[in-house]
Amino acid sequence: MHIDRYERNWMRIGIITLVVFAAFVFIAGFALGFQVPGDYERVNPQTVTESGPFADPGIREISPGTYEAYIIARAWSFDPREITIPKGSKVTFYVTSVDVQHGFKLQGTNINMMVVPGQVSKLTAVFDKPGTYDYLCTEFCGAGHAAMYGSLTVEQ
Ligand code: CUA
Repeated sequence: MHIDRYERNWMRIGIITLVVFAAFVFIAGFALGFQVPGDYERVNPQTVTESGPFADPGIREISPGTYEAYIIARAWSFDPREITIPKGSKVTFYVTSVDVQHGFKLQGTNINMMVVPGQVSKLTAVFDKPGTYDYLCTEFCGAGHAAMYGSLTVEQ
């Protein structure tokens, strides 16, 4: 079958582009540790704060150096607004919304997820560098959106 030279070159460019993009996905996923936020659990946004871990949001140590952070997003604040952990901690964040759609982005980390009422979003990060990491709402959620933030402090 005869394929025109230009046609063949365009096919080559297409295949090379696919291979390059696939390489980026693998590098991001395996070398840089990018994670896709999981729809970890379905919950009822009206009752999620009445019992279970979201009844007492905050950080808890589940084994030495390993923590779980339960965070509630609501217009227009995060509960808790401040979290403190020691350096080297591995923290899994569980975030849910009790009203509208919010976002949860933790500056300086790979944590960036949508927070949807009715589901729990979950991602994990390790904090080796002391400092303050702000978490922000990244989905426009109304008049107080710009004031919806909190901070995580990694102690020395
Ligand atoms: Cu919550 Cu924007």
